[in-house]
Amino acid sequence: MKLLQDKVLNEGIVLSDQVLKVDSFLNHQMDPVLMKEVGREFARLFEGEGITKVLTIESSGIAPAIMAALEFEVPMIFARKQKSLTLREDIYVEKVYSFTKQQSNDVTVSKKFLFPNDKVLIIDDFLAHGEAALGLAKIVEQAGAQVAGIGIVIEKSFQSGAQRIKDAGYRVESLVRVASLSEGKVSFVTEAVH
Ligand code: G4P
Repeated sequence: MKLLQDKVLNEGIVLSDQVLKVDSFLNHQMDPVLMKEVGREFARLFEGEGITKVLTIESSGIAPAIMAALEFEVPMIFARKQKSLTLREDIYVEKVYSFTKQQSNDVTVSKKFLFPNDKVLIIDDFLAHGEAALGLAKIVEQAGAQVAGIGIVIEKSFQSGAQRIKDAGYRVESLVRVASLSEGKVSFVTEAVH
C-alpha cells in the first residue's frame, strides 16, 4: 500500500535494527484519513470471505480494526490485556508473550461476543513474532469460530511472525512488509506491496 509505505518512510523513526517507531500516525497520534484507507484495503483483500466480526488487541490495533469493521459493517471486538487472571468462566483467555516488551499478558475476550458461526478477521498494527495474532486465533478457535484471515498494517518480515502464521495454516495479508531496519533505514519487501 503506497500511501502507507510513504508514511513509514516520511514519519517512521528507526529506533534500532528491530524496532520502528510510528507514533505520529499509528501508535500514539493516529491519522484517521490513513486509517480509513487502511480499512478499505483490508476490506478489498478479504472481500468475499463472509467476515462477521473483526478482532484485534488493545490498544494500537483498535484504529485499523474499527475502520475495517466499518467497511464490512460488522462489529469489532478488541481483546483486553490483563496481567494475570484467576480463572473465570465468562471469558476466553490466552497467554501472549511480548518479545518487544518482554512480558506476558493474559489476553481476554468475553464469551458474549464470539460464536461458532462467526468468520473472524484478525487485525493488528504490527507483526513481529506473531504472538498476539496467534493468541487471538486461538481465542477464535476456543469459541468454535473460524479465522477468515489475519490482516497486518506493518509486518516486520525479518522476524518470525509471518512464517509462523502461515505454518499454522492461516492466511496473512500485510499492507507493508519491512525487509530490514538495518543501518538506520527502512527497506521494504517491494514485490509484496499492494
Ligand atoms: P508479536 O505479537 O508479533 O509477537 O510482537 P511483539 O510481542 O514483539 O510485540 C509486542 C508489542 O510491541 C505490540 O504492541 C506490537 O505492536 C509492538 N511492536 C512490535 N514491534 C514493534 C515495532 O517495531 N515498533 C513499534 N512501534 N511497536 C512494535 P502492544 O504491546 O500490543 O502495544 P499497543 O498495541 O498497546 O501499542
